[in-house]
Amino acid sequence: MKSELNSKIWSNSARRDNGAITIGGCSVIELAEQFGTPAFIIDEADFKARAKQWKSGLDRYFATNAGTAYYAAKAFISRDVARWVAEAGLGLDVCTGGELAVAIAAEFPPQHIEMHGNNKSEREISEAIDYRVGVIVLDSLQEIDRVARIAHAKGVVQRVLIRLTTGVEAHTHESIKTAHEDVKFGFSMASGAAWDAVLSVSKHESLQLIGFHAHIGSQIFATDAFETSAERLISMVVKYKNEFGTEITDLNLGGGYGIAYTESDEPITPEFALERLSTVVNESCKKNGISSPKISFEPGRAIVGPSMTTIYEVGTTKEVRLEDGSTRWYISVDGGMSDNIRPGLYDAEYSITLANRVSSADLRRSRIVGKHCETGDIVIKDVQLPSDIVPGDLLAVPATGAYGRSMASNYNHMVRPPVISVLNKEARIMVRRETYADLLALEIDDD
Ligand code: LLP
Repeated sequence: MKSELNSKIWSNSARRDNGAITIGGCSVIELAEQFGTPAFIIDEADFKARAKQWKSGLDRYFATNAGTAYYAAKAFISRDVARWVAEAGLGLDVCTGGELAVAIAAEFPPQHIEMHGNNKSEREISEAIDYRVGVIVLDSLQEIDRVARIAHAKGVVQRVLIRLTTGVEAHTHESIKTAHEDVKFGFSMASGAAWDAVLSVSKHESLQLIGFHAHIGSQIFATDAFETSAERLISMVVKYKNEFGTEITDLNLGGGYGIAYTESDEPITPEFALERLSTVVNESCKKNGISSPKISFEPGRAIVGPSMTTIYEVGTTKEVRLEDGSTRWYISVDGGMSDNIRPGLYDAEYSITLANRVSSADLRRSRIVGKHCETGDIVIKDVQLPSDIVPGDLLAVPATGAYGRSMASNYNHMVRPPVISVLNKEARIMVRRETYADLLALEIDDD
């Protein structure tokens, strides 16, 4: 039955075993009994394998120019995940004080941390410098002065990158594109703001400019936009050399590599992307007479996305007659937009399957919805599922690792689901389910 679970969508160890899906050798039936639903199940070996794939791909294709593969913590982070990332030899991209706090709690090696953010607070900058993070990515002129001042006061020379907007239009959803012109991130190359940033950084002795950064968007399937963006970053290295007579040593090409959520998605492998990009970077540097800088990346989704699966329990089913006379089955699960906002926010599509058993019943047109008081609380808009699905059945949604738990909310005072790690038939709670007491604990009573 393995073939039913398309390996490009599911985590490596997902199988059908006696009707039920198992992940990491653990049956979803037992996982649901033991830990409740909804729950995120993270396939530990799968995560580690994907992380290593990025590290070894970078080392292999960029060789002496291999920089760091920074795992983008925003996709999903916990102390354990930070430790796995460190063990795999990756760096960590954090973009808030909260993400940095997890890194510090996990004792993540500071020199391999990169601090992002378009509006870092004084406190965040200060904490990052105190922890001696390897690099801070600068995003505005005010921030350049702010980081310089704080580093100076602490007697530190901080290594920095300047985030550039390379003007590349990536083919992805509007709100997850980041490097076209009309965005809040980075310094525009086209308008000259990028060079103003270089001049500004060069005035500060407490800042050491090591290079440039660009992130062009997320869930991108083709390499051409990354290649164009890399070439534009290299043009800045050339300009820098012409003006200052020295060479920039580092370029960070960001994250954004797409994964398969449905059968129709055809993601590129890290090897393919890295091989293409190393060729483009090396040729472009050669053509421009500069030495190749060290190249870093920031994959988030491509590492954790396929590693996690959400398990829901069906609560109700309802047949709804549509205006055209056809019918749709609404299947309500015990989570929804509070554990996966992506369908609502980006029209993101997912796959789903009956997880506790197999069924040979006829398929019927179904919509999987959550339990929130909101019409748009849809997990999967349109899917054919067996007509004998009943309350108590389990449904599994694969590839929910990236931006699922990390963008989860307490809307309708729902408690956020746990993250259960599975490996070699053993399951353990990595992040526990919230409780009503957790929610109530935030309120301060007057008396
Ligand atoms: N680096 C930077 C500077 C980023 O802003 C991001 C994502 C990444 C790396 C990682 O991108 P990834 O490899 O995971 O695509 N919440 C949205 C996506 C927004 C991502 C924001 N930045 C989603 O659910 O699709």
